[in-house]
Amino acid sequence: MDIQTYGLGTILDSFNCMNLSNHAGVALRFEGIRHVYADSVAVADVDLAVAPGELVALLGPSGCGKTTLLRIVAGLLRQSAGRVFIDGQQVDALSTGARRVGIVFQNYALFPHMDVRANVGYGLRAQGAPAAQIQETVDRMLDLVQMRAFGHRMPRELSGGQQQRVALARTLAVRPQVLLLDEPFAALDKNLRLDMQIEIRRIQRELGITTLLVTHDQEEAMSMADRIAVMNAGRVDQFDRPETVYDWPASRFVASFIGTANLLPGRLQRIGEGFELQCAAGGRLSLAAAAPCSRDGAAVLSVRPEHLAFTSLDAGGPQATVLMVVPLGPQRVYELLLDGGTSVKVTMPRHSADAPLIPGQRIGLRLREGAPAAVFVPEAA
Ligand SMILES: Nc1ncnc2c1ncn2[C@@H]1O[C@H](COP(=O)(O)OP(=O)(O)OP(=O)(O)O)[C@@H](O)[C@H]1O
Ligand SMILES: [Mg+2]
Repeated sequence: MDIQTYGLGTILDSFNCMNLSNHAGVALRFEGIRHVYADSVAVADVDLAVAPGELVALLGPSGCGKTTLLRIVAGLLRQSAGRVFIDGQQVDALSTGARRVGIVFQNYALFPHMDVRANVGYGLRAQGAPAAQIQETVDRMLDLVQMRAFGHRMPRELSGGQQQRVALARTLAVRPQVLLLDEPFAALDKNLRLDMQIEIRRIQRELGITTLLVTHDQEEAMSMADRIAVMNAGRVDQFDRPETVYDWPASRFVASFIGTANLLPGRLQRIGEGFELQCAAGGRLSLAAAAPCSRDGAAVLSVRPEHLAFTSLDAGGPQATVLMVVPLGPQRVYELLLDGGTSVKVTMPRHSADAPLIPGQRIGLRLREGAPAAVFVPEAA
């Protein structure tokens, strides 16, 4: 059923009846969280504060400690050090049940021998809720995830995306204060994943439920999250809005993990109000700002492919040879080789009036006007 025809007001009213609207004061805080498994440090000194109703993505490569952090919130794992607060209350001594968190895992794990309605009502039955209340809640939850018509199907008779919706309905039915999603779309194909991302975002916003979403998919994090915590080897390298993380990565790791980064080594120099990078490959680039590193000396500039532009060979910028031109939907992606041997990607809108460059052609590079460009201290050799 379409959410519009059912009426958002009705759904929100029903949540109010369930006392779910009390989320106004709920937030989640990690204080100095550290976890060591046997001999390896999985999470190192994580401090994070999630605002009420916010969706925060924990984003990072495999093994960086995302699931460990989620299990700590849920009380499925006791951290080696640090404290967790939910709605201002320290929850470390509380059982999983008493924390009122809801978890949806990657493999949805519905009970295979129960139909959809029984799955969604499971938590309430376990709490001993009256039958009438259970039926009413199951109806509401199935409306919310648009699965009312499938109530009597068995899990094996559902698609992956439908199973995932039911798993979400089952989790929401017990009124969690915090929703924890661990790679919930990993098993879905690309189109279905996109549908589910939009769907979960819609439901999350409507309910205003504080949510932690674990993912290693940067696009998923960028499109869904209010803020992203980028994790690297057990630490949070950066915690900020998606645009800020993309434009102003706080570390080389973040720059390379999110989007495509051209890394150009050289020497930074303050010139008047701005900066200039004398590229190791030859030529200079003018920067309006330099962050996080702004001191004169050896530096590495990280610049996105869409923030570079072409210029004439005698304009003073670094010079490059075109290696390849790839038409990619609305864009042209150029692969170039700088004179020092560093390869660089530049993207241009395909409708631009300029004739495309051809492989072998020599061209100068410059930064686009106002382009954000992050500057880092070179890594120690
Ligand atoms: N039960 C365990 N015993 C020992 N080491 C573990 C255990 N669980 C996880 N680890 C290790 O802790 C680190 C963090 O694991 P975690 O599962 O939190 O990573 P993740 O970020 O969720 O990765 P992925 O994206 O692959 O799910 C990894 O190095 C992992 O090998
Ligand atoms: Mg994991």
